[in-house]
Amino acid sequence: MLVELKATEIAVPTPSIFDPVSTPALAIRELSFLVLGISAIIFVVVAAVAAYTLVRFRSRPGDARREPPQIYGSTQVEVAWTVVPFLIVVVLFLVTARYIYAIERRAMPAGALEVTVVGNQWWWEIRYPRLGIVTANELHVPVSDPARPTPTFVTLQSADVIHSFWVPQLAGKMDVIPNKTNRVWIDPRAPGTYVGQCAEYCGTQHAWMLLEVIVHPRDEFDRWVAAQQTPAVADPTVSAGRELFLSLSCINCHTVRGTPANGVFGPDLTHLMSRRTIAAGAAPNTRQALRAWVDAPGVIKPGVLMPQMKLAQNELNELTAYLLTLR
Ligand code: CUA
Repeated sequence: MLVELKATEIAVPTPSIFDPVSTPALAIRELSFLVLGISAIIFVVVAAVAAYTLVRFRSRPGDARREPPQIYGSTQVEVAWTVVPFLIVVVLFLVTARYIYAIERRAMPAGALEVTVVGNQWWWEIRYPRLGIVTANELHVPVSDPARPTPTFVTLQSADVIHSFWVPQLAGKMDVIPNKTNRVWIDPRAPGTYVGQCAEYCGTQHAWMLLEVIVHPRDEFDRWVAAQQTPAVADPTVSAGRELFLSLSCINCHTVRGTPANGVFGPDLTHLMSRRTIAAGAAPNTRQALRAWVDAPGVIKPGVLMPQMKLAQNELNELTAYLLTLR
């Protein structure tokens, strides 16, 4: 049953840096091709010379069994094999510096969306300070038409250890460091879901820090914003579950807007059911998985900071029923 709850049900495409859809990622692919091209030329030249030497100067029957002539102190040869690699490294350095500068100096235009992503062990908090939205593990952004760009500028912070924010199809890696603010920007040109993952080992569940960037057409994004801005649904049919939730220590870590639950250590649950996975991709967001998660989080995600609440079966049912209404 555990296996069933795990990632098998969560289809995520494998992201590739060779399939970029955003300016920084396109620039990185360009640079990668240049570096790969130069490396390929060096490889072919070195391999060809090595192969020629192996064949041309191989040991033949009847050869005298003595050391071949030794060559020392050829200034021409030594200068050549020092200067040529040095020039190649200088070219690579200058071109790379130019790309980094071009990506980093980009100023935030008026139509940009501002988002703060906070790395946590082991999930991503996603805040939209100007829109009053807080969510987790799913970064929703509008598509950015190159003619009328609406890029997203991401401020990166960490609540605990060093993580790394990486969505290969959208931008380069950027470390997420405690007490330091880093920035990246993306301008995805096509709607779709782009998968990212923490790229810096940050503890036992480093592998379960799935980040999904969902790029919407503008009108669809505006509808998502409007839906997220509404307070939590207060469904009277699940009042038992809500009372239970509010009576437990759940509220010290989780926020459900419009209720006394205002904790900030765990993911905001106001619109929990709008998300595809729970526990940053460790399980699908279904009734069965939610119930198993609340019952024993450490079974699905060993090392998780959410404690086991030791609830009775009927309490688990009530609590799950309540969570399922948080659309
Ligand atoms: Cu967070 Cu690895």
